[in-house]
Amino acid sequence: MTTRWNPASLLRVAVPGYRYIFILVIVFCLSFLFIFVNNSTEILVVDNEIIEEPWETHKYVYEEVENSFTIKTEGCTISKLRPFDDSIKKYVKYPTDMKPCLNSNTSLLESNETHIWVLKDNFYFHNISDDGNFSCCYKSFSRPDSVSNINSKSIDDRVQYDECILFTDIIEVLNEFVRVICVYQDIDVFEQYFVFAPKKEFWSDKNFYESDPTEMPLNNTEYNVLIMGIDAVSRMNFHRTMPKTLAYLNRRNAIELLGYNKVGDNTFPNVIPLLMGIREFDLKKTCLPRSRSTFDNCPFVWDWFKEAGFYTALGEDTARLGTFNYFRLGFSGSPTDYYLYTFMHESEKNVGNNKDFNSYLCMGNKFFYRVLLDYIQSLTATLKNNKLFGFFWEVTMSHDYLNYPMVMDDSYESFFRNLESTGYLDQTVVILLSDHGIRWGDIRSTKQGRLEERLPFVFVLLPPSLRESYETATNNLQSNARRLTTPFDLHATLLDLVNMNALVDENVHARTAKMSGSERGISLFLPVPRNRTCATAGIDEHWCTCHTSRKVPLDSAEATDSAQRLIAHVNTLVRGHKQCAQLTLDAVLDAAEVEAGTAEHGELGWREFVLVVRAKPGGAIFESTLRRESAHWAVSGSVSRLNLYGEQSRCVYDYSLKLYCFCG
Ligand SMILES: *[C@@H]1O[C@H](CO)[C@@H](O)[C@H](O)[C@H]1NC(C)=O
Ligand SMILES: *[C@@H]1O[C@H](CO)[C@@H](O)[C@H](O)[C@H]1NC(C)=O
Ligand SMILES: *[C@@H]1O[C@H](CO)[C@@H](O)[C@H](O)[C@H]1NC(C)=O
Ligand SMILES: *[C@@H]1O[C@H](CO)[C@@H](O)[C@H](O)[C@H]1NC(C)=O
Ligand SMILES: *[C@@H]1O[C@H](CO)[C@@H](O)[C@H](O)[C@H]1NC(C)=O
Ligand SMILES: *[C@@H]1O[C@H](CO)[C@@H](O)[C@H](O)[C@H]1NC(C)=O
Repeated sequence: MTTRWNPASLLRVAVPGYRYIFILVIVFCLSFLFIFVNNSTEILVVDNEIIEEPWETHKYVYEEVENSFTIKTEGCTISKLRPFDDSIKKYVKYPTDMKPCLNSNTSLLESNETHIWVLKDNFYFHNISDDGNFSCCYKSFSRPDSVSNINSKSIDDRVQYDECILFTDIIEVLNEFVRVICVYQDIDVFEQYFVFAPKKEFWSDKNFYESDPTEMPLNNTEYNVLIMGIDAVSRMNFHRTMPKTLAYLNRRNAIELLGYNKVGDNTFPNVIPLLMGIREFDLKKTCLPRSRSTFDNCPFVWDWFKEAGFYTALGEDTARLGTFNYFRLGFSGSPTDYYLYTFMHESEKNVGNNKDFNSYLCMGNKFFYRVLLDYIQSLTATLKNNKLFGFFWEVTMSHDYLNYPMVMDDSYESFFRNLESTGYLDQTVVILLSDHGIRWGDIRSTKQGRLEERLPFVFVLLPPSLRESYETATNNLQSNARRLTTPFDLHATLLDLVNMNALVDENVHARTAKMSGSERGISLFLPVPRNRTCATAGIDEHWCTCHTSRKVPLDSAEATDSAQRLIAHVNTLVRGHKQCAQLTLDAVLDAAEVEAGTAEHGELGWREFVLVVRAKPGGAIFESTLRRESAHWAVSGSVSRLNLYGEQSRCVYDYSLKLYCFCG
């Protein structure tokens, strides 16, 4: 029999003869819960002071919470996962064999936010001996408004290049997208693409064809919103591969969603709920009547921000694998004020290099992920006096390999440090997240790998002023870190950021009172109910990581072996206190195997059991979770005592010892 894991019913089964103390037990459990909630804010702390290069020598300092679960609520319990679990460690390795970008040390061009110039020091590498026959051609390019004579398959790929402007030394940039080709003695010797973030006129209309030159003033009651995706990174893999960025986020008190469960297989079915609040399957009736339609009529969340006076931006670091372009048509109009696809498509096609599995890692001498980060940085500088909603997604580096995010850790950390130093983080909500964990490779044959695939990371970084002004909303978000959550919730959360009025304390209270608790998408600024299940949250059974439990016969070898292990563990807890009797197993009262989602055929890794046993002498009843890995049992987390110890433990004074000691 398989039932949704319910600790209360297990307890009732476990202690039939102890009904008279049931209430006391509940009181005891509640106090335990209280401790658990209070200890639960940080799972992993990386001590930045001792991080040093190279990556392999990083020393991690863990502060493990005293519990065996990632989240544990009435509706959903998710197993505890450890970044460096024994079943995973062997797959974790810095990617030392990654090739550098073409010309990474020998580029002929460099740029900053306003200029592009020639690096004459590098002429040598290109056999250029005199600069008299050397020149570069600067061409800006853009996507033409008109779509005539365009084959519909490449409607989003259309581009027009402007006149060539020759320069030999330095040139001031006045355009958004630029290609430069350098020629020496009539031969092309170097080509590179550059993206800038010039201030654009604010377009008041979604059609973008009528301009409204008024500059929207900064409204101090609202915050910029930056959504930054890192494709295919589980929460555990973020902890393993980007420890510096993690430490930075922890220092800034970013809120990490521990129970964030994906709702579809790959990027698209997870990004659509995030951006539109609907399922992939509902696109057809909402805005994509045919599979070969463009996304122009879809209800993207950035349209709401647009109407509220925000500039909007959409950028991914790939065109080929772009969320709306991979086997899809993309957009025919420009979906946002700043739209990076045209640039990515041209640069990928012409100077994309270092192809590794699915992705071109490099744009000429630069990693694509760096291009994206630098672009976000310039955009925030250009729009520092306006409001910005930006949706950005990194794909190239993280899409295919478990460990490649390690390469990006320094860049993301310094990206955030820079935004902090300009003051931008004080007026901006940042959501750094992924869509799912890695979906292939050796790690996927392990149980933890399957769970990681379904549990992507999410951090919400709130500016301090928002935390202070919207206290109830912030507290709700903080508690929701330990609830079952989804991309549908993030969508509802974003809508709340369009107009901060929604987050004023009294409005949060009023909205909370009206909740049914079974809404599919719940703003994370409201309380997500503890009894939420995968079914009410809109997570299909296949992707659900919440436990189910399967009864194990009490006389089976699994039950008795693990029970012996549990008693041995309790004996070690009182070791050194001679007044406490050695305990032995009296009876196994209950045993259940925890199944975290649906196991896959041939899956390797741990199995997890919840046991209730009675010890003698004294008749203490203990409950604990045990893991079995390669024929070895280990207690996972703490051991609970389900009946009262009373006078039995009068000979010890330490609270935790009292739970386990029988004074002999
Ligand atoms: C580029 O320069 C760095 C630092 O000077 C060096 O470590 C690296 O090996 C060089 N890369 C190539 C491809 O030469
Ligand atoms: C970019 O570099 C040029 C040339 O060195 C310099 O004149 C300009 O001020 C720089 N721009 C910025 C924004 O730093
Ligand atoms: C430069 O010249 C050397 C020797 O003729 C040749 O081996 C090399 O490939 C040339 N490099 C480039 C970038 O053309
Ligand atoms: C350009 O190259 C040609 C042929 O290689 C050479 O004759 C001429 O002197 C060069 N011009 C300059 C200005 O260096
Ligand atoms: C700024 O916020 C105020 C108060 O909420 C609102 O009335 C006003 O319309 C907002 N201005 C803009 C430009 O959004
Ligand atoms: C969750 O609890 C609320 C209030 O206690 C109740 O109304 C609701 O039916 C419960 N939902 C589920 C799915 O059990």
